[in-house]
Amino acid sequence: MPAKIIDGKMRGSPRSPTHCSLSSSPIYLIKMPSKIIDGKKIADKILNGLKSKVKNMKQKPGLALVLVGDNPASEIYVNFKEKTCREVGFYCERFNLDKNISEMDLLNLINNLNQKTNIHGILVQLPLPKQIDEHLIVDSILPHKDVDGFTPVSLGNLISENAILVPATARAVMHLIESTGTNIEGKSAVVVGRSNIVGKPVAMMLLEKNATVTICHSRTRNLAGHSRKADILVVAVGKPGLITKEMVKEGAVVIDVGINRVNGKVVGDVDFENAKDAAGFITPVPGGVGPMTIAMLMENTLKAMELAQKILK
Ligand code: GUN
Repeated sequence: MPAKIIDGKMRGSPRSPTHCSLSSSPIYLIKMPSKIIDGKKIADKILNGLKSKVKNMKQKPGLALVLVGDNPASEIYVNFKEKTCREVGFYCERFNLDKNISEMDLLNLINNLNQKTNIHGILVQLPLPKQIDEHLIVDSILPHKDVDGFTPVSLGNLISENAILVPATARAVMHLIESTGTNIEGKSAVVVGRSNIVGKPVAMMLLEKNATVTICHSRTRNLAGHSRKADILVVAVGKPGLITKEMVKEGAVVIDVGINRVNGKVVGDVDFENAKDAAGFITPVPGGVGPMTIAMLMENTLKAMELAQKILK
């Protein structure tokens, strides 16, 4: 980021100013803190903390990763989750299942995993093939092993301000907003996207922090009119370049959850290169929400182990 010129008289004297003596008001050149939120750096710190914590544990948190079919994006996500799980020293079981698997066979696998004492968290990567009822499968995961936070019990707990296991992406978004030092209370927050995985849980979490929350979606009229009023703008739609610079309020915190492939490049839902000039803080894609989501999933797995230990006591 280029250095911005700050009037040292107004801000107090910095320790080693670059002094410009041409006018009676000295001008100091100070490097401003970066407005790019480095999700990778924040995630690595969390993962390192987990690694040290787990090193001394006799029993390791155990995560089961279930991938059905051959969706290339899902395969990449599950590969990352498995790799991170092993790097932090967790126990991991991965199941690669045929895309034609029956609902009954998948339910049987989850039932087995529900009963295994060395598996504390179960994650079934979504979306699932058409012949399988996603709700039925998610609902079959025991709530205390629901590291995705997608079961009705987990979502109900979140809405009733009794959050136990919260969707990892929503936790990642909140963590990144808080990393900027922004006080959420009373702020105008706009969430673009109403998915069960991201939009709705993020909106609930912002509401719990006393933001005034608006949820925008594909039928919203005048999206720009809403987004321009947002002190905090969270975008989770899956449409590259949906949010332009003109749609961002000056100084807003912009969190881009989108992951889109355009001409072989991964980009978000926000026109990052231009929007960053308007934003106060902004997440890049890649390197923003993605790595943080995996770190939050690992935290959820550790939490699930602690829940199991409480239940078995
Ligand atoms: N598909 C896209 N995001 C997610 C996620 O966070 N969890 C699962 N299980 N599937 C996903």
